Amino acid sequence: MENDLVIPRHIAIIMDGNGRWAQKHSLERCEGHRMGAEALKKLIENMRDLPEVKYMTFYAFSTENWKRSEEEVSALMHLLVEFLDMNLSIFMKNDLRLLVTGRLEGMPEEPRSKLKEAIEKTKDNKGLCVIIALNYGGRSEIADAAKAIARKAACGELDPEKVDEKLFAEYLYNPQVPDPDLLIRTSGELRLSNFLLWEISYSEIYVTDTLWPDFDKNELMEAIKSFNKRSRRFGGR
Ligand code: IPE
Ligand code: IPE
Ligand code: MG
Repeated sequence: MENDLVIPRHIAIIMDGNGRWAQKHSLERCEGHRMGAEALKKLIENMRDLPEVKYMTFYAFSTENWKRSEEEVSALMHLLVEFLDMNLSIFMKNDLRLLVTGRLEGMPEEPRSKLKEAIEKTKDNKGLCVIIALNYGGRSEIADAAKAIARKAACGELDPEKVDEKLFAEYLYNPQVPDPDLLIRTSGELRLSNFLLWEISYSEIYVTDTLWPDFDKNELMEAIKSFNKRSRRFGGR
Protein backbone atom coordinates (compact mmCIF):
# COMPACT_ATOMS: atom_id res chain seq x y z
CA MET A 1 0.00 0.00 0.00
CA GLU A 2 2.66 2.47 1.06
CA ASN A 3 4.52 1.98 -2.21
CA ASP A 4 1.46 3.11 -4.15
CA LEU A 5 1.06 6.37 -2.26
CA VAL A 6 1.35 9.68 -4.05
CA ILE A 7 3.92 11.59 -2.04
CA PRO A 8 3.50 15.37 -1.81
CA ARG A 9 6.45 17.31 -3.20
CA HIS A 10 6.08 20.12 -0.65
CA ILE A 11 4.70 19.65 2.88
CA ALA A 12 4.18 22.68 5.13
CA ILE A 13 3.70 22.23 8.87
CA ILE A 14 2.32 24.53 11.57
CA MET A 15 4.24 23.12 14.54
CA ASP A 16 1.75 23.99 17.27
CA GLY A 17 1.22 22.64 20.79
CA ASN A 18 4.58 22.86 22.53
CA GLY A 19 3.00 24.79 25.43
CA ARG A 20 0.18 22.27 25.84
CA TRP A 21 2.70 19.42 25.71
CA ALA A 22 4.66 21.04 28.55
CA GLN A 23 1.51 21.61 30.57
CA LYS A 24 0.46 18.00 30.08
CA HIS A 25 3.83 16.87 31.46
CA SER A 26 3.90 19.50 34.25
CA LEU A 27 6.91 21.22 32.73
CA GLU A 28 7.80 24.83 31.86
CA ARG A 29 6.70 26.05 28.40
CA CYS A 30 10.37 26.26 27.37
CA GLU A 31 10.75 22.53 27.91
CA GLY A 32 7.92 22.03 25.46
CA HIS A 33 9.80 24.13 22.91
CA ARG A 34 12.96 22.11 23.55
CA MET A 35 11.09 18.86 22.86
CA GLY A 36 9.54 20.52 19.81
CA ALA A 37 13.00 21.26 18.43
CA GLU A 38 13.96 17.65 19.09
CA ALA A 39 10.89 16.42 17.18
CA LEU A 40 11.86 18.63 14.24
CA LYS A 41 15.40 17.27 14.22
CA LYS A 42 14.22 13.65 14.28
CA LEU A 43 11.64 14.21 11.57
CA ILE A 44 14.01 15.82 9.08
CA GLU A 45 16.59 13.14 9.79
CA ASN A 46 13.97 10.47 9.04
CA MET A 47 12.93 12.03 5.75
CA ARG A 48 15.71 10.22 3.93
CA ASP A 49 13.36 7.30 3.17
CA LEU A 50 10.83 9.65 1.56
CA PRO A 51 13.01 11.22 -1.12
CA GLU A 52 9.96 12.24 -3.16
CA VAL A 53 9.36 15.02 -0.63
CA LYS A 54 11.57 17.81 -1.95
CA TYR A 55 10.51 20.71 0.30
CA MET A 56 9.25 21.03 3.86
CA THR A 57 8.31 24.37 5.41
CA PHE A 58 8.11 24.53 9.20
CA TYR A 59 6.35 27.42 10.97
CA ALA A 60 8.65 28.14 13.91
CA PHE A 61 8.00 31.79 14.83
CA SER A 62 5.30 34.11 13.53
CA THR A 63 5.29 37.91 13.28
CA GLU A 64 2.66 37.72 16.06
CA ASN A 65 4.78 35.55 18.38
CA TRP A 66 6.73 38.67 19.52
CA LYS A 67 3.67 39.35 21.71
CA ARG A 68 4.76 36.52 24.03
CA SER A 69 6.75 37.20 27.20
CA GLU A 70 10.34 38.36 26.81
CA GLU A 71 11.41 35.21 28.61
CA GLU A 72 9.66 32.91 26.14
CA VAL A 73 10.84 34.84 23.08
CA SER A 74 14.45 34.81 24.23
CA ALA A 75 14.24 31.09 25.08
CA LEU A 76 12.96 30.43 21.55
CA MET A 77 15.76 32.47 19.97
CA HIS A 78 18.30 30.67 22.13
CA LEU A 79 16.87 27.29 21.12
CA LEU A 80 17.14 28.27 17.47
CA VAL A 81 20.83 29.07 17.85
CA GLU A 82 21.34 25.78 19.67
CA PHE A 83 19.40 23.90 16.99
CA LEU A 84 21.63 25.33 14.27
CA ASP A 85 24.84 24.67 16.21
CA MET A 86 23.89 21.11 17.06
CA ASN A 87 22.33 20.05 13.79
CA LEU A 88 24.39 21.52 10.98
CA SER A 89 26.24 18.19 10.80
CA ILE A 90 22.88 16.41 10.32
CA PHE A 91 22.09 18.76 7.45
CA MET A 92 25.44 17.97 5.81
CA LYS A 93 25.26 14.22 6.44
CA ASN A 94 21.75 13.96 5.01
CA ASP A 95 22.36 16.37 2.12
CA LEU A 96 19.68 18.75 3.46
CA ARG A 97 19.47 22.32 2.34
CA LEU A 98 18.36 25.07 4.71
CA LEU A 99 16.28 28.06 3.67
CA VAL A 100 14.40 30.63 5.69
CA THR A 101 11.15 32.38 4.97
CA GLY A 102 10.17 35.53 6.85
CA ARG A 103 11.66 38.91 7.69
CA LEU A 104 15.14 37.72 8.55
CA GLU A 105 16.30 41.31 9.06
CA GLY A 106 13.93 41.60 12.02
CA MET A 107 15.56 38.68 13.83
CA PRO A 108 18.12 39.23 16.62
CA GLU A 109 21.74 39.36 15.49
CA GLU A 110 22.96 35.97 16.78
CA PRO A 111 20.30 33.70 15.24
CA ARG A 112 20.38 35.82 12.09
CA SER A 113 24.09 35.36 11.51
CA LYS A 114 23.92 31.63 12.37
CA LEU A 115 21.07 31.22 9.90
CA LYS A 116 23.02 33.00 7.17
CA GLU A 117 26.01 30.78 7.84
CA ALA A 118 23.92 27.56 7.72
CA ILE A 119 22.11 28.68 4.55
CA GLU A 120 25.49 29.33 2.89
CA LYS A 121 27.04 26.04 4.07
CA THR A 122 24.11 23.93 2.84
CA LYS A 123 23.42 25.78 -0.40
CA ASP A 124 24.81 23.08 -2.71
CA ASN A 125 23.08 20.18 -0.93
CA LYS A 126 20.71 18.36 -3.25
CA GLY A 127 18.37 16.51 -0.87
CA LEU A 128 15.33 17.76 1.00
CA CYS A 129 15.03 21.54 1.25
CA VAL A 130 14.10 22.47 4.83
CA ILE A 131 12.52 25.91 5.02
CA ILE A 132 12.09 27.41 8.46
CA ALA A 133 9.51 30.18 8.78
CA LEU A 134 10.88 32.74 11.23
CA ASN A 135 9.49 36.17 11.97
CA TYR A 136 7.08 35.05 9.27
CA GLY A 137 3.64 36.41 8.52
CA GLY A 138 1.62 35.67 5.40
CA ARG A 139 0.33 39.24 5.31
CA SER A 140 3.86 40.66 5.76
CA GLU A 141 5.08 38.51 2.89
CA ILE A 142 2.33 39.80 0.61
CA ALA A 143 2.86 43.40 1.78
CA ASP A 144 6.63 43.10 1.22
CA ALA A 145 6.04 41.81 -2.31
CA ALA A 146 3.62 44.67 -3.00
CA LYS A 147 6.18 47.17 -1.71
CA ALA A 148 8.95 45.82 -3.96
CA ILE A 149 6.64 45.89 -6.98
CA ALA A 150 5.46 49.43 -6.18
CA ARG A 151 9.06 50.63 -5.87
CA LYS A 152 9.91 49.25 -9.31
CA ALA A 153 6.79 50.73 -10.83
CA ALA A 154 7.47 54.12 -9.23
CA CYS A 155 10.91 54.38 -10.81
CA GLY A 156 9.65 53.23 -14.18
CA GLU A 157 11.32 49.80 -14.17
CA LEU A 158 8.01 47.94 -14.21
CA ASP A 159 4.79 48.55 -16.10
CA PRO A 160 1.89 48.24 -13.58
CA GLU A 161 -0.20 46.64 -16.33
CA LYS A 162 2.21 43.69 -16.28
CA VAL A 163 1.40 42.81 -12.66
CA ASP A 164 -0.46 39.51 -12.60
CA GLU A 165 -0.44 36.43 -10.30
CA LYS A 166 2.66 34.99 -11.90
CA LEU A 167 4.67 38.19 -11.65
CA PHE A 168 3.45 38.88 -8.11
CA ALA A 169 4.56 35.42 -6.96
CA GLU A 170 8.08 36.19 -8.18
CA TYR A 171 8.34 38.84 -5.43
CA LEU A 172 7.46 36.48 -2.56
CA TYR A 173 10.25 35.41 -0.17
CA ASN A 174 11.20 32.15 -1.95
CA PRO A 175 9.80 32.32 -5.48
CA GLN A 176 11.71 29.21 -6.57
CA VAL A 177 9.85 27.00 -4.05
CA PRO A 178 6.62 25.41 -5.40
CA ASP A 179 3.39 25.86 -3.44
CA PRO A 180 2.75 23.29 -0.68
CA ASP A 181 0.64 20.29 -1.71
CA LEU A 182 -0.14 19.40 1.90
CA LEU A 183 -0.53 21.66 4.94
CA ILE A 184 -0.43 20.01 8.36
CA ARG A 185 -1.34 21.65 11.65
CA THR A 186 -0.67 19.84 14.91
CA SER A 187 -2.64 20.30 18.17
CA GLY A 188 -6.07 20.54 16.67
CA GLU A 189 -6.54 24.26 16.03
CA LEU A 190 -8.58 24.89 12.87
CA ARG A 191 -6.89 28.09 11.72
CA LEU A 192 -4.00 29.30 9.60
CA SER A 193 -2.51 31.81 12.06
CA ASN A 194 -1.13 33.93 9.19
CA PHE A 195 0.87 31.09 7.58
CA LEU A 196 1.61 31.08 3.82
CA LEU A 197 -1.60 32.85 2.87
CA TRP A 198 -0.69 33.18 -0.79
CA GLU A 199 0.95 29.79 -1.28
CA ILE A 200 -1.69 27.52 0.25
CA SER A 201 -4.55 28.53 -2.05
CA TYR A 202 -4.89 24.94 -3.23
CA SER A 203 -3.05 22.96 -0.56
CA GLU A 204 -4.83 20.03 1.07
CA ILE A 205 -5.25 20.64 4.81
CA TYR A 206 -4.70 18.00 7.51
CA VAL A 207 -5.18 18.77 11.20
CA THR A 208 -4.19 16.33 13.92
CA ASP A 209 -4.77 16.55 17.68
CA THR A 210 -1.24 15.24 18.25
CA LEU A 211 0.89 17.89 19.97
CA TRP A 212 3.98 18.92 17.99
CA PRO A 213 6.61 17.32 20.31
CA ASP A 214 4.81 13.97 19.79
CA PHE A 215 4.61 14.31 16.00
CA ASP A 216 6.84 11.84 14.17
CA LYS A 217 7.34 10.05 10.87
CA ASN A 218 4.40 7.69 11.55
CA GLU A 219 2.13 10.69 12.08
CA LEU A 220 3.45 12.17 8.86
CA MET A 221 2.58 8.95 7.02
CA GLU A 222 -0.98 9.22 8.38
CA ALA A 223 -1.20 12.73 6.92
CA ILE A 224 0.14 11.48 3.58
CA LYS A 225 -2.42 8.65 3.56
CA SER A 226 -5.19 11.17 4.16
CA PHE A 227 -3.75 13.33 1.36
CA ASN A 228 -4.06 10.31 -0.94
CA LYS A 229 -7.81 10.11 -0.32
CA ARG A 230 -8.37 13.67 -1.53
CA SER A 231 -9.46 14.53 -5.02
CA ARG A 232 -7.55 17.66 -6.00
CA ARG A 233 -9.52 19.50 -8.62
CA PHE A 234 -8.02 22.99 -8.62
CA GLY A 235 -11.41 24.39 -9.54
CA GLY A 236 -11.78 22.20 -12.61
CA ARG A 237 -13.80 19.07 -13.22
C1 IPE B 1 4.16 26.32 19.01
O1 IPE B 1 3.76 25.94 20.27
C2 IPE B 1 5.50 26.98 18.99
C3 IPE B 1 5.45 28.42 18.71
C4 IPE B 1 4.40 29.10 18.38
C5 IPE B 1 6.70 29.13 18.82
P1 IPE B 1 2.94 26.92 21.23
O2 IPE B 1 3.89 27.61 22.14
O3 IPE B 1 2.06 27.81 20.45
O4 IPE B 1 2.07 25.87 22.03
P2 IPE B 1 0.59 26.03 22.56
O5 IPE B 1 -0.26 26.43 21.40
O6 IPE B 1 0.65 27.10 23.62
O7 IPE B 1 0.23 24.69 23.10
C1 IPE C 1 1.26 29.42 15.03
O1 IPE C 1 1.01 29.01 16.33
C2 IPE C 1 2.69 29.85 14.89
C3 IPE C 1 3.69 28.79 15.00
C4 IPE C 1 3.44 27.51 15.12
C5 IPE C 1 5.03 29.25 14.95
P1 IPE C 1 0.42 30.01 17.44
O2 IPE C 1 0.31 29.22 18.66
O3 IPE C 1 1.23 31.24 17.49
O4 IPE C 1 -1.00 30.36 16.81
P2 IPE C 1 -2.34 30.82 17.53
O5 IPE C 1 -1.99 31.90 18.50
O6 IPE C 1 -2.90 29.61 18.20
O7 IPE C 1 -3.21 31.28 16.40
MG1 MG D 1 0.12 27.67 19.85
